[in-house]
Amino acid sequence: MGYSARDTPVFLHTGGSINKIIYIRPQDKYLHSYWETFDAVARERKYLASTQRFPFESTVEFYKNITGKGLPRVFAIDTETDRCIGWCDIIDKTETTGYLGTGLLKEYRNMGVGTAMLTAALKQADEYGFSEVELQVLESNTRAIHVYKKLGFEHIAIRDKKHIWKDTMESENVLIMKKAL
Ligand SMILES: CC(C)(COP(=O)(O)OP(=O)(O)OC[C@H]1O[C@@H](n2cnc3c(N)ncnc32)[C@H](O)[C@@H]1OP(=O)(O)O)[C@@H](O)C(=O)NCCC(=O)NCCS
Repeated sequence: MGYSARDTPVFLHTGGSINKIIYIRPQDKYLHSYWETFDAVARERKYLASTQRFPFESTVEFYKNITGKGLPRVFAIDTETDRCIGWCDIIDKTETTGYLGTGLLKEYRNMGVGTAMLTAALKQADEYGFSEVELQVLESNTRAIHVYKKLGFEHIAIRDKKHIWKDTMESENVLIMKKAL
């Protein structure tokens, strides 16, 4: 099918069939499904700083920038539907520090896909030459925090009431986590 898988595939049993999930560097043909997946996760309003997708043109621009610099980025592809169902990108906060962002469609969570996707992205981050990877996560996002700790991230700081949901003006604590490569 022309994929170049980077890490161990995960097989999901869904509705009587088996879906194979693979992890690849982004390809243009998956940009639209990535854009939709990002939007779905953002609209849950629980996990991401954004509450909806950016315009498609900005998404393409962001993607070109990342690809052009060879920065680490993984798309999780459901090979049954041939759609991007999750992403992990690690942008250059500084020359040596990467900054990680990730998300997965709701129906694909808690089955090992996130762990495999992040493992593939961290491998790319090491190959890229980052010496550490940083991220921020809402304190209430205990599943993501569990996965990050499992992959070697340590909690280095907490920012009290740092994230403000602009429409409700409610605020949440944000954890800063880091992993040395
Ligand atoms: C965070 C995310 C990428 C993790 O991917 P995932 O595929 O769901 O995670 P996995 O199935 O690989 O692992 C889940 C682990 O968390 C554990 N877990 C599940 N729910 C949990 C909870 N509420 N609290 C703590 N741990 C939890 C599972 O038991 C499992 O642990 P194990 O690997 O030790 O058995 C995914 O859930 C996601 O996209 N969430 C919404 C978006 C998001 O949170 N993005 C990150 C913003 S910083």
